[in-house]
Amino acid sequence: MAKTKFPEGFLWGGALAANQVEGAYLEGGKGLTTVDLLPTGEKRFELMLGKVDSLRPMEGYFYPSHEAIDFYHTYKEDIALFAEMGFKALRVSISWTRIFPNGNDEQPNEAGLQFYDDVFDELLKYGIEPVVTIAHFDVPVHLVEQYGSWRSRELVKFFERYATILFERYKGKVKYWMTFNEINMLLHLQFVGAGLVFKEGEDQNQIKYQAAHHQLVASSLAVKACHEIIPDAKIGCMLAAGSTYPYTCNPEDIYSAMEKDRESFFFIDVQSRGEYPGYAKRFFRDHNLNIQMEPEDEEILKNHTVDYIGFSYYASRVTSTDPEILKQMTGGNVFGSVENPYLEKSEWGWTIDPKGFRITANQLYDRYQKPLFVVENGLGAVDEVTPDGEVHDDYRIDYLAKHVAEIAEAIEDGVEIIGYTSWGPIDIVSASTGEMKKRYGYIYVDKDNEGNGTLKRLKKKSFHWYKQVIQSNGENL
Ligand code: BG6
Repeated sequence: MAKTKFPEGFLWGGALAANQVEGAYLEGGKGLTTVDLLPTGEKRFELMLGKVDSLRPMEGYFYPSHEAIDFYHTYKEDIALFAEMGFKALRVSISWTRIFPNGNDEQPNEAGLQFYDDVFDELLKYGIEPVVTIAHFDVPVHLVEQYGSWRSRELVKFFERYATILFERYKGKVKYWMTFNEINMLLHLQFVGAGLVFKEGEDQNQIKYQAAHHQLVASSLAVKACHEIIPDAKIGCMLAAGSTYPYTCNPEDIYSAMEKDRESFFFIDVQSRGEYPGYAKRFFRDHNLNIQMEPEDEEILKNHTVDYIGFSYYASRVTSTDPEILKQMTGGNVFGSVENPYLEKSEWGWTIDPKGFRITANQLYDRYQKPLFVVENGLGAVDEVTPDGEVHDDYRIDYLAKHVAEIAEAIEDGVEIIGYTSWGPIDIVSASTGEMKKRYGYIYVDKDNEGNGTLKRLKKKSFHWYKQVIQSNGENL
């Protein structure tokens, strides 16, 4: 293994999303957001795909975002623990409906703006750089009801206004921004990614790609506003990454893997290179998709590209054109992947592939030649608390150490990487399943899948491990 030094000022830290930590879902004037409608259990997956029959929480279901881990009230205590680990950065998202409860209100909600001011002040007190995602899987429910969410062009201007308010308010505090979390998720979990609800018989592809276009334009307009309002800021995109491997060297498999990757790269190609790639235009033609674009869109996309490529990496993917092989899918991964016979899986069926991390980072850098920022990575696992109150999460340390080592290799390969914020540094609600049991944290939170528990925080073994990783700037893994 290369003995690489991580660059000076490398942004070590963790990443969170408002709806998975804050709770207080109607406090401080906050409005209802799409994630507030996602219960635990089987119903959750149906809703995430856009089969939604009620835009209000329903009787008899448990909604994990409503309390989450109560970060809204515990942020000071939690940030103190992150500071103890030596965090240089914390990625958080802002909940759109704390700022605009309906998404398109005349005036922003001061209590919501103040909450994030307080969070940023607390971070800055410890020298922790806030890294802010403007939209992490939430759309104001009012905009879903009124406009059909991102299928409507109207959302572009509401989002631009929301982003502009954030830049104006936090210009002295936040230098790192991201527009949409895992923007490519829109194609897979449509309600989660874009608040899309489908009616029987609709052409879902048409709606998804139209919504994608709106988000891409909105993203570019946010980049424009950010650059104008905070000239020294960096604003990036965010891709749910993980290279797709062909199952065999059959050219059909190779081509299929390339197509799968392009399904995701399409978004970043637009956000980073500033135009629709030829393969996307062909896809629209081949599928009779007619994407409505305004005359000014081409110029907006071209002139306001992102400064860096943010990405999450959990697993690589495998595809095949052989129907028999395609039957061997792994569970759990929303991107759908054939099982990789060479690799282990997590308890939730997500492939564990540290080397894939290096491959993915190289692939992204080769393609975009812009700094990369790893804004999510980690292992969702079940943790046991011993009778004397300890969590020996060696499996998590093992996963993270191997992944960070591959990031070091990528840096040695010449890939420019500005930071690493592992996912869920404190246990949080799982986005896909809504469970608490699927834990990523260095800090254990006493809460179970049904919402029972004291919410007490407890340092795991990995807490001490990560602290010395940061202290040694990645030398001691
Ligand atoms: C990413 C999301 O897809 O993966 C996070 O940006 C999410 O919101 C993370 O939590 C891990 O997924 P899960 O389903 O294990 O929480």
